[in-house]
Amino acid sequence: MKYKLTLLLLACCSMMQAQTPVYLDPSKDIEARVEDALSRMTLAEKIDVIHAQSKFSSAGVKRLGMPDFWTDDGPHGVRPDVLWDEWEQAGQTNDSCVAFPALTCLAATWQPLVSSLYGRALGEEALYRGKGMILGPGVNIYRTPLGGRNFEYMGEDPYLTSRMVVPYVQGLQSCGVASCVKHYCLNNDEEYRHQVNVIISDRALHEIYLPGFEAAVKEGKAWGIMGAYNLYKDEHNCHNQYTLGKILKQDWGFDGVVVSDWGGTHNLDQAVRNGLDMEFGTWTDGLTMGATNAYDNYYLSKGYQKAILEGKYTTKELDEKVRRVLRLFFRTTMNKQRPYGFLCSEEHYVTARLVAGEGIVLLQNDRNVLPIQPKGKKILVVGENAIKMMTVGGGSSSLKAQHEISPLQGLQERLKVSDCQIEYARGYVGDVSGNYNGVTTGQNLKDDRSPEELINKAVEKARTADYVVIFGGLNKSDYQDCEGHDRKTMDLPYAQDKLITALASVNKQTIYVNISGNAVSMPWRKQVPAIVQGWFLGSEAGTALASVLVGDTNPSGHLPFTWYENLSQVGAHSFGEAAFPGIWREGKKIIDEEYKEGIYVGYRWTDMKKLKPAFAFGHGLSYTTFKVSNLRSAFDETTDGNMTFKVDVTNTGDRPGADVVQLYISDVKCSVDRPVKELKAFQKVMLKPGETKTVTLSTDKRALSFWDEATDGWKAEPGEFIAWAGDSSDRLTCKVKFTLK
Ligand code: BGC
Repeated sequence: MKYKLTLLLLACCSMMQAQTPVYLDPSKDIEARVEDALSRMTLAEKIDVIHAQSKFSSAGVKRLGMPDFWTDDGPHGVRPDVLWDEWEQAGQTNDSCVAFPALTCLAATWQPLVSSLYGRALGEEALYRGKGMILGPGVNIYRTPLGGRNFEYMGEDPYLTSRMVVPYVQGLQSCGVASCVKHYCLNNDEEYRHQVNVIISDRALHEIYLPGFEAAVKEGKAWGIMGAYNLYKDEHNCHNQYTLGKILKQDWGFDGVVVSDWGGTHNLDQAVRNGLDMEFGTWTDGLTMGATNAYDNYYLSKGYQKAILEGKYTTKELDEKVRRVLRLFFRTTMNKQRPYGFLCSEEHYVTARLVAGEGIVLLQNDRNVLPIQPKGKKILVVGENAIKMMTVGGGSSSLKAQHEISPLQGLQERLKVSDCQIEYARGYVGDVSGNYNGVTTGQNLKDDRSPEELINKAVEKARTADYVVIFGGLNKSDYQDCEGHDRKTMDLPYAQDKLITALASVNKQTIYVNISGNAVSMPWRKQVPAIVQGWFLGSEAGTALASVLVGDTNPSGHLPFTWYENLSQVGAHSFGEAAFPGIWREGKKIIDEEYKEGIYVGYRWTDMKKLKPAFAFGHGLSYTTFKVSNLRSAFDETTDGNMTFKVDVTNTGDRPGADVVQLYISDVKCSVDRPVKELKAFQKVMLKPGETKTVTLSTDKRALSFWDEATDGWKAEPGEFIAWAGDSSDRLTCKVKFTLK
């Protein structure tokens, strides 16, 4: 009997080997595998793969050996697991991750290579955790410093965003883990994110808000994209015929899956016809939280199946969605060539430190107060952000980090062998709660002293200190750098202005380190000699900040957005409530927000209005100095628009350091209004003291073009252009003219 069974099994095995189905044969073309798998699936199986079955997973096809598909946030590390159908923690003991710096910091590195390392490290963590897709990166444009999720995005400039997103996507996907680029599109503020209907010119849409997505799709070959919550042209962006059907799928040739943001699906017919492929996170009423195990009620679930059986739809749209999902499977979970995953490897920590070190921006350094010379000195560290864990909170990007080194710990560790004394004063109390979605920091930050007592205590200690280092800024609490709401003002919360002014008035060596993903107003800016932008730096925050503050790392981050003096300098805030936050329609179901500033976002606005922001886009100092000079072009006219420029950059100081050479282009005369200048190329260069390097920067026709609404396409008008080079948008030290024939 036993013998017979073995023979039978052997016979089955050899039969199976002889007829490996096409879809399981990795040597076959992926499209052939998709078609073969599709032809084997039942209607119910097809329906199953296009909607969620738990908070973060959708079904595979068990009968055909295709595993369930797991997604997870994103974008700064792999989010800890929640229960199958609840937002509570699953309580795993293997889901503590490396928290990487937030994407604003990544953008501030101006280093595409660093972005690729970031994506790869994140991909390895995702693989270990069994995730097929990371819900990120985010590339929505920083339109106003009030934007609650700006910290998850890459700043205000479409070109910088594009250059930084492509390697992230490629690095992540090199692990066989899909990226899900979000939130497509026009999700630029958080308040009323389910109701905002954006009204915008085609030109601004294409020139400012879409290029990051376009680059991720066309160059990065992203396998997933997430539809945003908000509306455009009166249709929700999770099923928007114009943005998904036309632009993404038709014009850009996107062959991946469109995933709905969690609870962003609102309408069966639109979900069927307008480009949505996978529905996640909602019940049937468009809310982010729904009834228990209600997945059958999703739009792309039983209701859709029934409608097909009743003949309301053919399977044409369904098959198209399933093809995309199958392609996703073959690229990820069914890809047997995927590398192994690692969680919390030393390389990942090195990557986190590298990103942080390259992204921290030295905004101001009067009298060369920085770097700190610790020997024999008393250093007073002040502020809640010196001790508060920042990896927990902020919404879906919240993480359970294996460790997080606070700024105070980082300084203590770095200076423990130096002959110096470090003291700490709280200075202010912000939000002491420290938990998100069931992950708690475990920190007890409670302090009952009044703001006056806290300030007085800090000031008293500051009088006798050699340095005062304040770690302040925002945090990940509601109405700050956090999903769901926008900030209400640009001001620092928790009476920090008062604290900083008081400290600076008694200590001339005051250093302010701002922790945030957004610009904050700094009315005391002229009184504080040194200001550092410290972002949300993740697991290695303290190590990276200490390294910059004492000068082990020479800062080389540059701002990915304009640091306005106050809201009156912001385009989006210059047209009343119609432009921000919008005006409710009758019935209060939709709020129309018209981007009246059009293409004039960030430096494009301050340039046009001749405003001087606190710190310009692209600004970033170093402990050495640089000279950018001698910009020249290989030829002074072009017919195809391709141009190559060379420019010299010299380290004129006495330390090694890196500068970011930036190339901007102005169109001298054009039939439409154009920005004074626009970033079109950049490169970060490392230089020894006294060293000069020649940097080559190339641009193409797109760099000279504007979006022509008449022809619905890019257009470069012949004539004269000027290329400018420098190391900040407000420090362009050389230029060259050229002509497009
Ligand atoms: C957020 C997405 C996130 C998703 C899943 C949504 O509320 O907008 O960015 O990926 O939740 O957590």
